[in-house]
Amino acid sequence: MQKTLFRLSVLLVMCFAIVLLISPLKGAKAVSTGETRQVDTVAHRGASGYSPENTIAAFDKAVEMKADYIEIDVQRSKDGKLVIIHDTTVDRTTDGTGHVKDLTFEQLRSLDAGSWKGKEFSGEKIPTFEEVLSRYHGKFGILIELKAPQLYPGIEETVAMILKERTLDKPQNEKIIIQSFNFESMEKMNTLLPKVPIGVLTSSKTHTTDQALNEFATYADYFNPNYKIVNKELVSKVHAHGLKISAWTVRSQETADFLLEMDVDAIISDYPDYVDPRN
Ligand code: G3P
Ligand code: CA
Repeated sequence: MQKTLFRLSVLLVMCFAIVLLISPLKGAKAVSTGETRQVDTVAHRGASGYSPENTIAAFDKAVEMKADYIEIDVQRSKDGKLVIIHDTTVDRTTDGTGHVKDLTFEQLRSLDAGSWKGKEFSGEKIPTFEEVLSRYHGKFGILIELKAPQLYPGIEETVAMILKERTLDKPQNEKIIIQSFNFESMEKMNTLLPKVPIGVLTSSKTHTTDQALNEFATYADYFNPNYKIVNKELVSKVHAHGLKISAWTVRSQETADFLLEMDVDAIISDYPDYVDPRN
């Protein structure tokens, strides 16, 4: 009886070891040469292919799918509260109308931010920046985009203050990254939070010259382009300037496969499982 139990235990340990061997570590991807490398999966506006973008439902879905980061879009209400929403109006993703900057937090919070995506999401609210930090930091990376910061003078200082209050302003602390299409804002952000990694977003090839990349490298850590301007040459060039590269936005398996082949550092996707089928 004891022998049988012993053999059974040995068999179980062996099975476990085999499973470990064939299942690479989280974030590691096989490439055609047989090597492995790290690619972070970023759930764009949460797992927004499956749940209403920029809501707790979408962020929880990304957690469930084991993405490495969630990406969030930060804007500001009329009365100064930082909220998570992509468009500068509430029209597309809620049952309300109007510009985010012209609505009070109470007005924004009263809107239904889920029903547009499906009845089952009815009642989802526009989250606050602080709510998202409290719920996910420490468990999950957060890629913070300042959306149209030119509409919200001083938003950089508020973001910096909130991150400092939570001691999220240390190098790679809790995997916080800040990015924007507004380069001036990112330069300022780097001055306010010198230890937090900064990213610049672009769709334009004019920002891929050596001169432009040199300039970005003075204050940024990431060059984050639209996948349509990505090729191997660009990836090598960005790396040669000491920057990392995170490409967006994946909405098909084909695009995910293309970016995996390009050797980017992170892939920003509405569908985390396209980047890593284990998600
Ligand atoms: O994170 C990259 C991506 O979010 C930039 O585009 O318009 O989806 O905010 P957008
Ligand atoms: Ca975004």
